[in-house]
Amino acid sequence: MNITKAWSTIVVSNGLRLMIPLWIAFSLAARAEDRPIYLDANEPREARVEDLLGRLTLEEKVALVHADSKFTTAAIPRLGIPRRWMSDGPHGVREDVGPDTWKPAGHTDDFATCMPCGIALAATWNPALAQEEGAAIGQEARKRGKQMMLAPGLNIQRTPLNGRTFEYLGEDPFLTSRMAVGYIRGVQSQGVASCAKHFAANNQEFDRMSINVEMDERTLREIYLPAFKAAVQEAGVLAVMGAYNKFRGQHCCENDYLLNRVLKGEWGFQGLVVSDWSGAHDTREAALNGLDLEMGTEKPYNEYYLADAYLEGLRQGIYPQAGLDDKVRRNLRMMFATHMFDAGPPGSANTREHQAVARRVAAEAMVLLKNDGNLLPLEIDRLKSVAVIGANAVALQAAGGESSGIKAFYEITPLQGILRQFGDHVNVTYSKGYGGTAGDDLAGQAVRAAQQADVAIVVVGLGHGLFRDTEGSDREDLKLPDGQNELIAQVRQANPKTVVVLVAGSPVEMPWLNDVPAVVQAWYSGMEGGNALAAVLLGDVNPSGKLPCTFPKRLADSPAQVFHAYPGVNGTEKYEEGLLVGYRYFDTRNVEPLFPFGYGLSYTRFDYSNFHVVKNMGSDDPPARVEFDVANVGDRQGAEVAQVYVHQVQPGLPRPFQELKGFSKVFLRPGEKQTVSIPLDAAAFSYYDPDKGGWLAEKGDFEIRVGSSSRDIRWTGKFTLDQTTLKKPMLSAQLTP
Ligand code: BGC
Repeated sequence: MNITKAWSTIVVSNGLRLMIPLWIAFSLAARAEDRPIYLDANEPREARVEDLLGRLTLEEKVALVHADSKFTTAAIPRLGIPRRWMSDGPHGVREDVGPDTWKPAGHTDDFATCMPCGIALAATWNPALAQEEGAAIGQEARKRGKQMMLAPGLNIQRTPLNGRTFEYLGEDPFLTSRMAVGYIRGVQSQGVASCAKHFAANNQEFDRMSINVEMDERTLREIYLPAFKAAVQEAGVLAVMGAYNKFRGQHCCENDYLLNRVLKGEWGFQGLVVSDWSGAHDTREAALNGLDLEMGTEKPYNEYYLADAYLEGLRQGIYPQAGLDDKVRRNLRMMFATHMFDAGPPGSANTREHQAVARRVAAEAMVLLKNDGNLLPLEIDRLKSVAVIGANAVALQAAGGESSGIKAFYEITPLQGILRQFGDHVNVTYSKGYGGTAGDDLAGQAVRAAQQADVAIVVVGLGHGLFRDTEGSDREDLKLPDGQNELIAQVRQANPKTVVVLVAGSPVEMPWLNDVPAVVQAWYSGMEGGNALAAVLLGDVNPSGKLPCTFPKRLADSPAQVFHAYPGVNGTEKYEEGLLVGYRYFDTRNVEPLFPFGYGLSYTRFDYSNFHVVKNMGSDDPPARVEFDVANVGDRQGAEVAQVYVHQVQPGLPRPFQELKGFSKVFLRPGEKQTVSIPLDAAAFSYYDPDKGGWLAEKGDFEIRVGSSSRDIRWTGKFTLDQTTLKKPMLSAQLTP
């Protein structure tokens, strides 16, 4: 008999019968007289969960499924259960608040390393680096005594107007999945739970608490769910946060279909579903539809839907005990995984390694959008004077954006980075350029400074104010505010050697693009951002970032606008653009973007050659592998993100023109060449067929498109799939009542 697969029935205190694996039953029996199993870190986690579950009273169980302060759940001293602490957010461990208010707690030990924002991390196209960032954040979480990080944010950029675009990982499900898996593995490697948020279809801040999202099943499966599925099935994420919005009429935190059926039923998720803060709305729905932990802000904690009202319903038999036990098990799993009953790693903060990771992410995230006449990198030996212009050159960004804000240990601004690295012999001037009152003539001063300098560096952007890059509101357009477009034009007139640096977490329109020789997309680049920017400007770092989203020429070109789908009508938003999100729209409908998905220049050049698609014969292998060489044929070391897109020639149902299915970031010295090999599994050829209820890979012809961006395809190869396969989602777990 395989003991790990055998099952036994036990009767728990209230007479309920429970099936548990036999090996757990043996452990429970053998250890009855000793130290409790749940306190023994050597015991298997499930045995500890069952042991502790059996010791909890009804009231104690309910205490574990709702908040007792802004970011904690109650301690149960009788059993040695400590208070459990959670913290935002994606870019580092947030400043402490509360306990019962959003005002800062006023602690002096709640600083954190501020990493570049989510979209910047995605622009690195480097999942291994995401894992390093996650590990550093996990270490800081441990140091600060937080068991769960409310990160990463995995919502797809459906409209560039979404105020939280800067927090998320771009417009593509495949790229988002790869980066998310790296990040989550990193966080969780430190004994800290990661929480993938916001599940699901949380793609705008406008009406965010109530908007009802309607979309077809195929769009849901192909665009909005894959990153969460990867988080669960590949990264083993310990928690998922429900979104504020409704999906098909039901709030996402209490959404039977999303939580019970898909997340837990199909994907086999064993971790806990936590509500977004005040995202639960009804005791019955919260009790029955898959929510495991209610967090929030407004009410007394005993009035939460999963508090007294739930307890009362359980006592009266309205809600099943087994449902509560399932919630508690999921919470306990997370508690054991994060060492709440044993020492665990001590953690660390603001180490040299953390600073180095923050700097490397910032450097790899910078996207060189334009570089006419190789104006960049600046030749330091020939440079005598530089005019740095723009309020964004000195603006501090780390604390902004609401829940993803950080009380940073320090923050190197663009100006500080330039002052530090441009050396004493370069005369650096600074003028604010915009953001003053009418009589200040800030633009005039900036223009005069630009006239007198060898080079003008204009640092423009959005910042985290209302209707900009922030939680709680969407942008109203894609324009740079505060007269920055006019300023750029004036500075460019004064000095043809003008470099524009964009400090923004979402696309902006660039009416001046044709006139300006060089543009760098710097994002919000965290506390080492200024250092990374200066290194890029001087060529100490060769830019290798690629856009994780399309930059449209104008807002009107963006698909949610084209289909008149955003921001919804009468509280409901139909995702009329369906699958045509981001480059899927621009490439299928042949619309010229300002900059395409996957785009980014380098100071060196890369040649692609020797392409072939290798067909795998073994039935267990992925059907194909695409191989090619990438060579650095310039004179600087650099990195190239080689991208593989798949196009199906005659699909049974219409498909987007091409979809990203693989990529690899290669680091090459001048003259060096590397062979890249990218597997293409069945998923790379499949689409979701709603009638068949599964992922369909149809036999027939495909084009494998290899390139340096979605619009810079260097080779197109043919591949024929010999047989059709259909992969239907299975219910992998018995649904809990
Ligand atoms: C945000 C979440 C965040 C939570 C706790 C909510 O408003 O949507 O992303 O984790 O607050 O701060």
